[in-house]
Amino acid sequence: MEKKTLTIPYEEYASIEELGEADRTLLEAAVDAMKGSYAPYSHFNVGAAVRLADGTVVKGANQENAAYPSGLCAERTAMFAASAQNPGVPFEAIAVVCARNGSLMLNPGSPCGACRQVMAQYERLAMKPLRIILGSGGPILAFTGVESLMPLIFNDL
Ligand code: THU
Repeated sequence: MEKKTLTIPYEEYASIEELGEADRTLLEAAVDAMKGSYAPYSHFNVGAAVRLADGTVVKGANQENAAYPSGLCAERTAMFAASAQNPGVPFEAIAVVCARNGSLMLNPGSPCGACRQVMAQYERLAMKPLRIILGSGGPILAFTGVESLMPLIFNDL
């Protein structure tokens, strides 16, 4: 037996101004997408924005339902809309941001496992690492490749 350690490479930015232009624009789109959040149960608003290889940006926000499991996270709302409206156009990046009671969280929110799995599928289809930007009112984290967020990922394509 051999003990091994995985390391996760990522970038931390002190504020949105430190990001490159394309990432900054995408994060701003995610903040704007929060306006579409429907979260009467959790009062936790999440916005996401996907950038495609042709520059198209598609927004999504979390949608809740009285039958709780019928709701959907912002990330999957954005990714499914992006794919449905732009079939076959590769994904380049996704930005996510969360707010509670209208104020951006002080630390970045982290996508749930189901959203990471969906990211993995579109990344695989794109044949290029997906850039994942997790924004907040404080630091911003950026990852290149879903494997960073989901080591030993399941892929059957
Ligand atoms: N939520 C997201 O939209 N994305 C995440 O990554 C985590 C959680 C939503 C689901 C639900 O509407 C609310 O946040 C509280 O869990």
